[in-house]
Amino acid sequence: MVDTSDEWISTRTGIKERRIAREDEAASDLAYEASKKALESANVRAEDLDMILVATITPDMIFPATACILQDRLGAKKAAAFDLEAACSGFLYGLSIGSQFIATGMYDTILVIAAEALSKIVDWQDRSTCVIFADGAGAAVLRPSNGESKIISTYLGADGGGADLVGVPAGGSRLPASLETVKNRQHYMKMKGNELFKRAVKIMVQAIEISLERGKLSPEDIDFFIPHQANIRIINAVVKRIGLSMDKVYINLDRCGNMSAASIAVALDQAIKENRIKRGDRVLFTSFGGGLTWASMVVRF
Ligand code: UT7
Repeated sequence: MVDTSDEWISTRTGIKERRIAREDEAASDLAYEASKKALESANVRAEDLDMILVATITPDMIFPATACILQDRLGAKKAAAFDLEAACSGFLYGLSIGSQFIATGMYDTILVIAAEALSKIVDWQDRSTCVIFADGAGAAVLRPSNGESKIISTYLGADGGGADLVGVPAGGSRLPASLETVKNRQHYMKMKGNELFKRAVKIMVQAIEISLERGKLSPEDIDFFIPHQANIRIINAVVKRIGLSMDKVYINLDRCGNMSAASIAVALDQAIKENRIKRGDRVLFTSFGGGLTWASMVVRF
């Protein structure tokens, strides 16, 4: 479809393969599958959920919220439901918000899902984006901790000054859909990849330092690291700067591409299933993406 090569994609990004949703599949369909699995593995019934929070930049539609569509499909009758848009940081923002409701005692059982159908908003004629982004969903059930396992520290950040670096220009209230916007391909994602790359490394390193400091931890205290999966060169540079060994770092970029909010959620599930994370491990998560937004969190698993 575009002038590119397997060699360029794998050496410049680290991506070898990725998953693309079917034509009739939307974000809520991916979210539904992930939610069913998360509920099953947490042994929680959908009826017992107090809140459903979907992190996505590819909602089924502008409104109603994808979380509401999901709530109905799951039969989570008593759950409040809303979407959260923080691009690649959506899952960590979501975990942070959900955990606050639990910490205050307001809610007991919260489902946080990151679901993206990015193939639907990628311009398949734009080689700077169409070789990178992919579809997927991951979900987690949050419940009060009985002691050992907990969120040790969280840091969330944003810089709207970089809002023009990645996004979909039309279809909102600024540039409503028109024949003109369709003709100009403004409903597709536009990205200034190179500028994002430079900021990603710097900001992810700073975010990690802040979350470690808030948890009174040093890099040596981290057992496992799940970074956002945008580019293997970004991950390598971040890991080198904080001085972690690469065998503590989880990579799914090669198999899954960049799934925005879903990247970390899916990676967490994969790492658990591959026995890469043990009970009691201190796991570091860090993300950076559109908005700009970023987040870093340390969890005792
Ligand atoms: O998910 C969070 C938000 N996104 C990010 O964090 C993305 C961060 N950025 C990146 O991962 C990288 O910037 C990209 C993978 C998007 C691009 O890699 P790059 O090394 O920054 O490439 P570039 O944009 O500087 O382009 C280098 C060259 C250009 O050609 P010339 O001008 O040197 O002749 C591009 O036209 O590579 C060309 N190019 C391609 N060539 C083959 C750009 N895309 C492609 C492609 N295939 N798909």
